[in-house]
Amino acid sequence: MPARDPLATVREYHEQTKHHFNRFARSLGYLDWATQPEPFRTFDGCRRIDLVDPLREAAACAPQGATSWQDVSYDELFVPALSRPALAPGLPAMSVFLRYSLGLSAWKQAGSSRWALRVNPSSGNLHPTEGYVIAGPGAAAGQPGVYHYAPDAHALEERCAFDAAAWTMAVHGLPQGSFLAALTSIHWREAWKYGERAFRYCQHDIGHAVAAMRMAAALMGWDCAVVPGWTSSVLASLVGVDREADFEGAEAEEPACLLVVAPAGLDAAAAAGPGRGAVGASLADAARRGTWTGRASRLSADRVQWDVIDAAAEASRERETPAGAHADTRRSPPVPPRATMMPAAALLLQRRSAQAMDGSTGIDAGRFASLLRRLMPDAGPPFDALWWTPRIHLVFFVHRVDGLQPGLYALARTEAAIGTLRGAFSQDFAWIRPPGMPDDLPFFLLDHADCRRVARQLSCGQDIAADGCFSLGMIAEFDVALAEGGPAAYRRLFWEAGAVGQALYLEAEAAGLRGTGIGCYFDDGVHQLLGMGGGAEAVPCQSVYHFTVGGPVDDPRLSTLPGYPWEKPYFGVS
Ligand SMILES: Cc1cc2nc3c(=O)[nH]c(=O)nc-3n(C[C@H](O)[C@H](O)[C@H](O)COP(=O)(O)O)c2cc1C
Repeated sequence: MPARDPLATVREYHEQTKHHFNRFARSLGYLDWATQPEPFRTFDGCRRIDLVDPLREAAACAPQGATSWQDVSYDELFVPALSRPALAPGLPAMSVFLRYSLGLSAWKQAGSSRWALRVNPSSGNLHPTEGYVIAGPGAAAGQPGVYHYAPDAHALEERCAFDAAAWTMAVHGLPQGSFLAALTSIHWREAWKYGERAFRYCQHDIGHAVAAMRMAAALMGWDCAVVPGWTSSVLASLVGVDREADFEGAEAEEPACLLVVAPAGLDAAAAAGPGRGAVGASLADAARRGTWTGRASRLSADRVQWDVIDAAAEASRERETPAGAHADTRRSPPVPPRATMMPAAALLLQRRSAQAMDGSTGIDAGRFASLLRRLMPDAGPPFDALWWTPRIHLVFFVHRVDGLQPGLYALARTEAAIGTLRGAFSQDFAWIRPPGMPDDLPFFLLDHADCRRVARQLSCGQDIAADGCFSLGMIAEFDVALAEGGPAAYRRLFWEAGAVGQALYLEAEAAGLRGTGIGCYFDDGVHQLLGMGGGAEAVPCQSVYHFTVGGPVDDPRLSTLPGYPWEKPYFGVS
């Protein structure tokens, strides 16, 4: 039988996992508490490296007279890292990086139930993403190795120790002290609740995690970028998720992406270096020949097999080296720093999802414009970590932005997309630059209207989409991205959407508001609203994620504890 065309498989998966007004994408339909996956994976039998003390060491190691990374303001994260002192390479730097990207941000408690929240968000708080670091001597332990991050303990589990020569070759040309980070997804964690649509959510979560890593690196005065060109099979060997004996009986991990994390001064060509051909393969080879320890813990007593997820994962794996980095060189003017200084470290930990919005808080047009600027691909972190041509654009449901009429608006995140979106959307839209917004921002009024009802309806009837200052749909240039990047570009669309979501979460906090990612929305309903037809008609753009920002309503029944017992509650934790 001829092999299925991977591009067709990916398209079919996307079509099949749409929520429709009359039918949700397939899932079990109920929560089977008996098979609820454990939130934390461990590798039993590994040597553990505690990161708690190195974190304390990092906190104490600001150079004389220099601003400590802990005092860096949120706005300074967007200033090139080279212009301020960076945290010295070593285990303390590694500890800060992981704590502020994938670590626990808080514990929530209601009665006798207690659950952890993390710096990176996740659909349903299910956290399918696992993090690894690959580091040389000095950055983690004595020998180059592969380490799994255990966020519950803030510790590294040493999975593999490998040959030093391969490491030296892999980091050739990178700043001294650079290391690699890798992300994988345990699809079952997410599929347990969301069924077939879960593969999409796993990809959103990867995008959020990549962005969280980029922001943590910026906090340290470091750079961090996704490395192009690593095939899924090479990445699987590097982090050992293809080691069947180590995963016997345990839920599989699907490799997602590799990042380089480097003291400031990383240039794009050097970052791409470890991904290219022979170097990547030889590092994975060295890992394969290395000494491995540990067995993956089993997360559930039993699990449901979702074949469409396996097929979508297989079809969208990175197979060959993709074409080079994007060429859009447009630069937005920087966002002026805020009058009040917000420590970035505290802000990264206080990011939360609003469970409900108050329906009354607004945002002024000036602050809204600053927030929009930070969503542009050239705004710096986290988007400078993504190497591909930006393909995600935003359609806003503006409810309460002082100085802007309520209505439907579009932010084209690249110059080229203005024409594409105008061609794809309803020809009745106005495409007017709204008065009071900066002329250079590609932000357009499409239609005046009270959009609260339609925003709620399209986001699966969720009130948070109507009760915030604004909500939005993320529109992907779907056909173009897949034609250009092949089936692997499918994942990258969600990664980019996740990164936009992470930027929105942080910008919301910085504006004194709160955000929430929305994975539940009616895909073709959004397309119809935008005049792109629906159903069987060919739609060149697809809605891939929703988001809302507003004044949160806290649940008084929940109490909040710090992420780790040794930490004092941070200012602003709620
Ligand atoms: C991809 C994604 C989709 C989400 N979808 C929804 C949603 O449809 N409705 C909702 O209320 N929250 C949604 N959330 C918010 C999560 O429930 C939230 O991130 C999770 O409970 C963890 O809480 P935290 O963000 O406060 O750490 C989503 C989050 C992500 C990352």
